Amino acid sequence: MTLAEKDRVADDCVMVICGAAGDLTRRLLLPSLCNLGAAGLLSDKFTVVGFAHKDFTTESFRDYFIEDVKEFVKDEKAKKYGFELAQRTAYLSGEFNDPAVYQKLKELLESLATEKGTSRNCIFYLATPPRFFCEIVENLGLAELTTEQAGQWRRVIIEKPFGHDLASAKKLNQDISKFLKEDQIYRIDHYLGKETVQNIIAFRFANGIFEPIWNRRYIDHVQITVAESLGVETRGNYYETSGAARDMVPNHLMQLLSLTAMEPPISLSADAVRDEKSKLLRAIEIGSHEEILSRSVRGQYGAGFIDNKSVPAYRAEPSVDPHSMIETFVAMKLNIDNWRWAGVPFYVRTGKRMEERSTEIAIQFRSAPSILFKNTPTHLAPNQLILHVQPNEGITLNIGAKVPGPIVKLGEISMTMNYKDYFGASLGTGYETLLYDCMNGDGTLFQRADMVELGWELIQPMLDVWQALPARSFPNYAAGSWGPKESDDLLKRDGRKWRKG
Ligand code: BG6
Repeated sequence: MTLAEKDRVADDCVMVICGAAGDLTRRLLLPSLCNLGAAGLLSDKFTVVGFAHKDFTTESFRDYFIEDVKEFVKDEKAKKYGFELAQRTAYLSGEFNDPAVYQKLKELLESLATEKGTSRNCIFYLATPPRFFCEIVENLGLAELTTEQAGQWRRVIIEKPFGHDLASAKKLNQDISKFLKEDQIYRIDHYLGKETVQNIIAFRFANGIFEPIWNRRYIDHVQITVAESLGVETRGNYYETSGAARDMVPNHLMQLLSLTAMEPPISLSADAVRDEKSKLLRAIEIGSHEEILSRSVRGQYGAGFIDNKSVPAYRAEPSVDPHSMIETFVAMKLNIDNWRWAGVPFYVRTGKRMEERSTEIAIQFRSAPSILFKNTPTHLAPNQLILHVQPNEGITLNIGAKVPGPIVKLGEISMTMNYKDYFGASLGTGYETLLYDCMNGDGTLFQRADMVELGWELIQPMLDVWQALPARSFPNYAAGSWGPKESDDLLKRDGRKWRKG
């Protein structure tokens, strides 16, 4: 649903941004609020309270907000809303581990409510490094800021990464559940804010023609690619503790996979959708250590060229160990052990510094029998349906056709639908829908505790095997390529080929 189509103003609330001086707030959160406000979807009294250790005053935070709007908000109406909202914001400077600051926060929220008539509904947005998640929730809890009273809700949005491995994700879930009920927790996966990701459900279940063939009878295999042409940029410090598998697989890739492969939910309610996703994740076969090794590939980029410009190797990036063994690419072959997908492999891959930025889901159908065309000079290509998540959001169907002329020859044609030709440019940052849904208590697009843990359960054995057997050949792919040769071999062994690469 686009912002313009949302027809009701979100529940009145105050949004407290913990980490208000950081990049996420500047680039995404404040601009998204401006877009929501300009679309008339925020209540008149909605306001923001910034909370961070930076020693802003309310005045200087307002100036910072205004500069931010000038830099990151494109739409004139949204800019105007941003300038107005800036004048209503407040700021609290303090350390996240200092219980006294949370008392001040409580007093500030109370005084805003009594003096300015702001709501007592509150979202606490944890836009901080993950090491603060637990202590912020604990302090909010101890100060009774997470306590809900009749007619008044309290919700917490937690950014990724949610845990560093299975054990830490479980512990984080346990720790925060001491102060929050599950329906107060909104774990962000920004992929779910993307219109094209949300459209997977509409595409599959709102069209009569696809669902009947969405299974092992008609589908040969599925390829999910999340390729980035960027490197690690300034995030070397974080990436050195993460790597591509932790950074992308349990969250973004598993979201794409579960939406593509899940059974139809009984309704679009948050739990109905999330139950189906969970079931799907549970059906993914983990395999023995040998199987994990043979079905997964890791890579690290060396120097290379992107858009004809030379770019450095991962090991030469800022804040990266020159002997780093961290992977910047991962590919996996996954089998889903359920009735619909038995025998249909899902190949997933993600990497940095790949030839082009491209996130897509490619469904390859079984080939038609070749009896009629066995003597034609061209080979029958299997049909493919490609959901282009980004960039160039759209859908392509590749089909075979006769090349005009007296000799029977086959060629491939692509039927492509571009979203921009139908619904206009998609609005904003992708965070608008997520914020709006949280304000309305709709958790559909957020990760539930079990989903986060299932994502980690899936990759933990692979991380363990990889740790026990460090990669010997890093760097093993050139920046600007489609990843290491082993990634191609993963499909070649099955007589298949990546669509791109
Ligand atoms: C983030 C990862 O979650 O997603 C980044 O931490 C990655 O490493 C980013 O670059 C990709 O997001 P998008 O929206 O650009 O595909």
